[in-house]
Amino acid sequence: MYTSIDKLTQEAKPYNRLLVGSGDKGKETILPVLECHPPLALAPMVGLSHSALRLLILELGGVGLFFSEMLSVMRLPIENEIVSPFLCRTPEETPFFYQIYAGPNQDIIPAVERLHRLNAQGIDLNLGCPAPALRKQGAGSFMPVDSVRKTVATLRAATHLPISAKIRLGKTLDKKALLSFCKMLEDEGINLLTVHGRLQGEKFCRNPRWDWIGKVKQAVNIPVLANGGIFSVADAKKCLERSGADGLMLGRGAVCKPWLFAEIAKDVYNADSVPEINIPDIYFRFIELLQDRFLPERRLGRLKQFTHHYSSNFLFGHHLASGVQNCRNLDEAAETAMNFFNKIKE
Ligand SMILES: Cc1cc2nc3c(=O)[nH]c(=O)nc-3n(C[C@H](O)[C@H](O)[C@H](O)COP(=O)(O)O)c2cc1C
Repeated sequence: MYTSIDKLTQEAKPYNRLLVGSGDKGKETILPVLECHPPLALAPMVGLSHSALRLLILELGGVGLFFSEMLSVMRLPIENEIVSPFLCRTPEETPFFYQIYAGPNQDIIPAVERLHRLNAQGIDLNLGCPAPALRKQGAGSFMPVDSVRKTVATLRAATHLPISAKIRLGKTLDKKALLSFCKMLEDEGINLLTVHGRLQGEKFCRNPRWDWIGKVKQAVNIPVLANGGIFSVADAKKCLERSGADGLMLGRGAVCKPWLFAEIAKDVYNADSVPEINIPDIYFRFIELLQDRFLPERRLGRLKQFTHHYSSNFLFGHHLASGVQNCRNLDEAAETAMNFFNKIKE
């Protein structure tokens, strides 16, 4: 039923890029086709998917598309892009989709206009987030279907850029409802769909349902990115086999192992070699990038969040995570990490 990964690998050429914006059936094609090569995307993650992590991943290679962390359509128009940790971005961080979220009665147009001025390559609508903060606004996975339809139609009319949506599988496992929702998104002009293979209420510790992403893939004519639970090359291959997706989106796996894109790109998409990996050096490079990219008061919280995931590279990584967690400034955190790395060498 599913294409074997060996077949995918042998015939890597047709699959090793994602063409976004070419899939609108029968409608007048007004979109430039966006090419993402390889079809591997960094997930939107609050506090994690920022310029420093993106630059680190770019240095290691293998990434083909970036998504910002979710941005409120109400705040976006008034954010200062020079100092805002949510908006600051270098020209190398491309192709780039900004992810927005909106409540049913919120005006998205000023946010879309702002994203045009920020040189977005695409705009992603968050329709999957189950966070309580979004529940209050009726945004993310709480947006009623009718409002989703209207919002997507408004977004489609407001931009010439490719638009995408990121969803979960729904509130309950209901194939008919899921596929009709996805087809509605496609009909309203969505060009790329990311499916996180969990239900609205499911925690990250639950295994994602990659086969359900496959049901979506078979039902729509736009490219589909599979998301959820990819922490290794083996996971990436299994997810592609089970879902038949056009590409993958990596979240926490990319924070634990920022070189995972390069490994998947090489193994699955025949990309060039993976750089030599030195885990402590990469950690200190990340600190340098935080210093380059953010105001001093914006650095430590982001390092703590990163360390929470990165520490899983070590058997006793919780010592690193809790040590850094208790630090009051970046220098102290760097020293704590250095002591940890020296200790595990002994
Ligand atoms: C700390 C954190 C923040 C997240 N923030 C967002 C977000 O802003 N928008 C979104 O659509 N999903 C968000 N997610 C969900 C991820 O994009 C992704 O769907 C999820 O982590 C599953 O993928 P993974 O198993 O590769 O991490 C977040 C996840 C985490 C762990």
